[in-house]
Amino acid sequence: MTLSVAVSGASGYAGGEILRLLASHPDVQIRTVTAHSSAGQPLVAHQPHLRSLAHLVLQPTTPEVLAGHDVVFLALPHGQSAQYTDALGSTPLVIDAGADHRLTSAEDWAAFYGGPHPDPWAYGVPELPVAGGKQRENLRGATRIAAPGCNASTVALSLAPGVAAGVIVASDIVSVLAVGPSGAGKSAKTNLLASEILGSANPYAVGGTHRHIPEIRQALIAAGAPSDGIRLSFTPVLVPMSRGILATSSAPIREGATDAEIRSAWETAYADEPFVELLPEGVFPRTADVLGANVASMGIAIDRAANRVTIVAAVDNLVKGTAGAAVQSMNLASGLVETTALPLNGVAP
Ligand SMILES: NC(=O)c1ccc[n+]([C@@H]2O[C@H](COP(=O)([O-])OP(=O)(O)OC[C@H]3O[C@@H](n4cnc5c(N)ncnc54)[C@H](OP(=O)(O)O)[C@@H]3O)[C@@H](O)[C@H]2O)c1
Repeated sequence: MTLSVAVSGASGYAGGEILRLLASHPDVQIRTVTAHSSAGQPLVAHQPHLRSLAHLVLQPTTPEVLAGHDVVFLALPHGQSAQYTDALGSTPLVIDAGADHRLTSAEDWAAFYGGPHPDPWAYGVPELPVAGGKQRENLRGATRIAAPGCNASTVALSLAPGVAAGVIVASDIVSVLAVGPSGAGKSAKTNLLASEILGSANPYAVGGTHRHIPEIRQALIAAGAPSDGIRLSFTPVLVPMSRGILATSSAPIREGATDAEIRSAWETAYADEPFVELLPEGVFPRTADVLGANVASMGIAIDRAANRVTIVAAVDNLVKGTAGAAVQSMNLASGLVETTALPLNGVAP
């Protein structure tokens, strides 16, 4: 079976990374790539690293151009997806890299995004512990999938095992993330200029305003946290690395939980997961070790003096944080081998 695929937003960072992964997928034919202001230009004018796709020309992003494929990836700015998803009713599988279809709560949508609340779709993080198993089961055979927010999935994967096993308390979570500017996309913004970023660490969306907060809460509720019992302090800090997220999250230890029970919560959750790496005790990940890889790498520390568990997780925002999650979800939804075309190894240095 060969799936014919269209990728919109193909001139951007997320679209480019989806194409890089799909280019080596044996069950996929990339038939159509679309963009907005760059329509009409060769794909390689915007993605010169995608040499094997040099024959493709960017087409305008319209429902007509996107129709007629087995799979459509939407990698568009926030708010742009819903207009196409309605028109793609007969497309067997649509995967949105944007936030439009991630939130189930209309209240959260109104508070953090505003405007009409699009339908929630299956959340594209297969490894997440959810009631009765893993999110993977909700992706098998799915026809509409919302790929995750990169920061949100990194923090959710960090904390969900402890929540699901009941060894941490969700009412006092603190997450601080070092993030690279590629997470904000390719379009020019003054705060993302090299002169603003190099040699500096710049916090943003401080104090509970970041749009990934409700997405993390939603994932932790799915893992078993009480819906009114989650308090999350979330602070991203822009740092001078192109790709990567290093998320340090901590939460209080549930009274009575032993060190063995705490460690076992994460070991059990991720023992059979090829793309979530739990490092040995005392070892913590670096972003450099996951660049280009579809891997969330994490280390946990049990800090009895602070009575908290601290989880440090490293993810490439463009791979495991977006494109890798999207392709992994496509594989599951299409009945393909889940790991197909997803790199375990990164690039170094
Ligand atoms: N970057 C990440 O690490 C990351 C992680 C998780 C999720 N995401 C999500 O992925 C989506 C794309 O992000 P990105 O980082 O790839 O952004 P980006 O680099 O700015 O790319 C945006 C793409 O959308 C196209 N576009 C712009 N305005 C459009 C419009 N009105 N209609 C149709 N297409 C339009 C652009 O085409 P032209 O260049 O031709 O104008 C470009 O191809 C966003 O929803 C983002 O939240 C990104």
